[in-house]
Amino acid sequence: MSTRQPLIVANWKMHPTLADAVVLATAVKRGLEDIHHLEVVLCPPAPWLVPVAELLKHHPLHHLYLGAQNIWAPPAQAPDGAYTGEVSAEMLKHLVQYVIVGHSERVRFFHETAALISRKAIAVLEANLTPIICVGEVHRSSRSKDQVIEVLQGLLGPIPRTRWHDLVMAYEPIWAISTGDDSDPASGDYAETMAETIKSIVGRGTPVLYGGSVDSSNIAEFIHEDDIDGALVGSASLKAKELLKICEIASGIKK
Ligand code: PGA
Repeated sequence: MSTRQPLIVANWKMHPTLADAVVLATAVKRGLEDIHHLEVVLCPPAPWLVPVAELLKHHPLHHLYLGAQNIWAPPAQAPDGAYTGEVSAEMLKHLVQYVIVGHSERVRFFHETAALISRKAIAVLEANLTPIICVGEVHRSSRSKDQVIEVLQGLLGPIPRTRWHDLVMAYEPIWAISTGDDSDPASGDYAETMAETIKSIVGRGTPVLYGGSVDSSNIAEFIHEDDIDGALVGSASLKAKELLKICEIASGIKK
């Protein structure tokens, strides 16, 4: 059983305006002054990282972190280069603590491959940041578990085994994401089986989050499971009240 505090990652995707992001981050920060025993990571759109970082720096909370939704890692692991429009992990190293890599929307819309996702994870580790690596099957089927194992092995292969415990994994069945085909959350049982499978490969010390239509009505079901250490929350993280409710519920569950 995990002894870690729950980790709640708020993936704001390409949603908030600057004003929205500032209002949201301010409200979440204020609310978290009274909610402890968990860690929270806010992942705003890239241009709002600096203003949100400034806001979090002012009277910082030890359990509130900042994350990027993506980075680019050139093939040669160069720290910089002629890559128009891209941002490296190195550039974010004093700004954020976490980076989401391999989100299914990046695979779907930007055709990211397993090799690229692994390279990104390595670049994030080399910048002394924590990668949150997403993995999950597209359709729910009797082969879902095998598909996840296969993808996971491909993703982990290039990453030095000695660093696997520095990763955070996010099990995100694509069919359960709120913009997905059926967008019903997985059941706690189902997500637990997958989280356990992921841990059997990556190691039991590596936290595994669940992501896909998480909100305040179902967070408890996931956090109660032995192998689920937190959640990656999309749409429900765009409302401060709802995100704080999720945090409050998660923080009250003893693991
Ligand atoms: P959702 O998104 O909570 O809106 O389903 C989760 C995600 O895509 O990370």
